[in-house]
Amino acid sequence: MTEPLATELVAEVSAFARSFMARTFNLRFTMLNKTDPVIEVRGLCKKVKDATGELTILDNIDLAIEAGSSVAIVGASGSGKSTLLGLLAGLDSASSGSVRLLGRELTTLNEDERAALRSGSVGFVFQSFQLMPHLTALENVTLPLELQGGIGTREAALRARGLLEQVGLGQRTNHYPKLLSGGEQQRVALARAFVTHPAILFADEPTGSLDAATGHAVIDLMFQMNRANGATLILVTHDVELARRCDTTVTIEAGRLA
Ligand SMILES: Nc1ncnc2c1ncn2[C@@H]1O[C@H](COP(=O)(O)OP(=O)(O)OP(=O)(O)O)[C@@H](O)[C@H]1O
Ligand SMILES: [Mg+2]
Repeated sequence: MTEPLATELVAEVSAFARSFMARTFNLRFTMLNKTDPVIEVRGLCKKVKDATGELTILDNIDLAIEAGSSVAIVGASGSGKSTLLGLLAGLDSASSGSVRLLGRELTTLNEDERAALRSGSVGFVFQSFQLMPHLTALENVTLPLELQGGIGTREAALRARGLLEQVGLGQRTNHYPKLLSGGEQQRVALARAFVTHPAILFADEPTGSLDAATGHAVIDLMFQMNRANGATLILVTHDVELARRCDTTVTIEAGRLA
């Protein structure tokens, strides 16, 4: 998956804000039964044009993910894991096939409607973090709460600060991303994804830049959220400990389910 640059994230954020209005005034969301899968994928394909013609990145993926479960997506580098994660979260559009996220068929929604569905329900940790460079760690984590609305500035900052403390960054809240190490940026990205208490947390190699002890603490935090809020965890990982703790493992080999 080609990840959006920070400037594209700004566009994403403004789409997110517009879509919040759309959601508030226009959209109705399908209520899910407890037993319904939070994600259901049928015949999902992603193809892109490249110099040699057409490249098939994902080929005919079928998948169902139960609410409150934890899923590890594993596979070799270049097998299509990040692309799949972006499609499941509605950040990217499929070439064919269907993706139902929280009862809504993503292929029938436009970008604003997909952003509305994501806001408040989906947290996403990008493989390359994608923090806003001109915002401090605290402001990065507070931003999703401000966009979501319904929470005062003081409370939003308190909640964000609490999460930064939980990921061990209580002393770095006023640092800008460029002044943080890779592992510290990754933890800010995790705090930002957790802060709205999303129903589904997507994380692309969330422990990839962390030392063993910090990685362990972050894994504990994700599963704590999984238990406390019934959040579904969908994690791309090469981390054996993390994959082992998940309920199921999905293996991708050259764009196909193994
Ligand atoms: N927009 C694009 N255009 C062309 N090729 C792409 C595009 N996006 C992804 N690819 C290719 O698709 C394949 C799968 O990419 P993806 O990023 O999903 O892999 P991955 O399994 O996440 O790998 P890694 O473990 O290294 O992060 C790669 O070969 C990549 O080069
Ligand atoms: Mg990847």
